[in-house]
Amino acid sequence: MLISTILRRHIETDVQMGISIFPLHKHKQYLSECCKLINDEWKRSETARLHSLESSCDSLPTSLVLVEDGRVIGHLKLTPIPSIKDACFVESVVIARHLRGQGYGRILMRGAEDHCRTALQLRTVYLSTKGQEGFYAKLGYVLCKPVSIYGCFVPETKKEEPKRVVVQSLNVDAPVPPPLPHCERLVSRKVFMKKELISR
Ligand SMILES: CC(C)(COP(=O)(O)OP(=O)(O)OC[C@H]1O[C@@H](n2cnc3c(N)ncnc32)[C@H](O)[C@@H]1OP(=O)(O)O)[C@@H](O)C(=O)NCCC(=O)NCCS
Repeated sequence: MLISTILRRHIETDVQMGISIFPLHKHKQYLSECCKLINDEWKRSETARLHSLESSCDSLPTSLVLVEDGRVIGHLKLTPIPSIKDACFVESVVIARHLRGQGYGRILMRGAEDHCRTALQLRTVYLSTKGQEGFYAKLGYVLCKPVSIYGCFVPETKKEEPKRVVVQSLNVDAPVPPPLPHCERLVSRKVFMKKELISR
């Protein structure tokens, strides 16, 4: 079933406004516009980005585009989780900068959840975020343990103590170096969230 049809059932006012959600592989005319939208947010080579987008298919991974009046204004990608068969991972969620804060992100996520539930028969949607927890919490996502889309265990993020430097020197008069600065970049603040999809 086309997602725009599913949306029509649930978000009639949005459809009246000319908004649709499409699987990208069925509407390849949006490929380069979608690539630009994502690359405006997360810089990456166009070739690599297009390669990733071109892997979209009917099962997983699937890239969904939010289109308004023929323009791509949003994107997200549904990725398989090898260790959890009836779930997927949502990534690269993005809404065009000038349209943020107007409810489009909610529409896109809701359309994606409908697609997961009805077309893909999935029960749970996972994601990870660094800074957008509030947005996902509003949509019913709750914090959960890390999951991996690479088929291996993801350890819980833990603040590491800065390593002590042992100075081994024959010159006992040499000044002791100052402690190493705490390296924030080594500490991931990414959180994982999930939502159980309730059948409608
Ligand atoms: C995150 C993003 C997709 C949200 O899309 P959006 O269209 O701006 O969000 P919406 O307008 O649909 O917001 C839905 C609700 O969430 C709230 N919300 C949005 N962003 C929020 C945030 N960062 N913190 C708390 N609440 C937030 C809105 O106020 C709104 O609440 P309301 O229904 O009570 O009014 C968009 O801001 C974006 O593209 N950001 C840059 C890329 C990014 O960070 N993606 C997420 C990667 S994990």
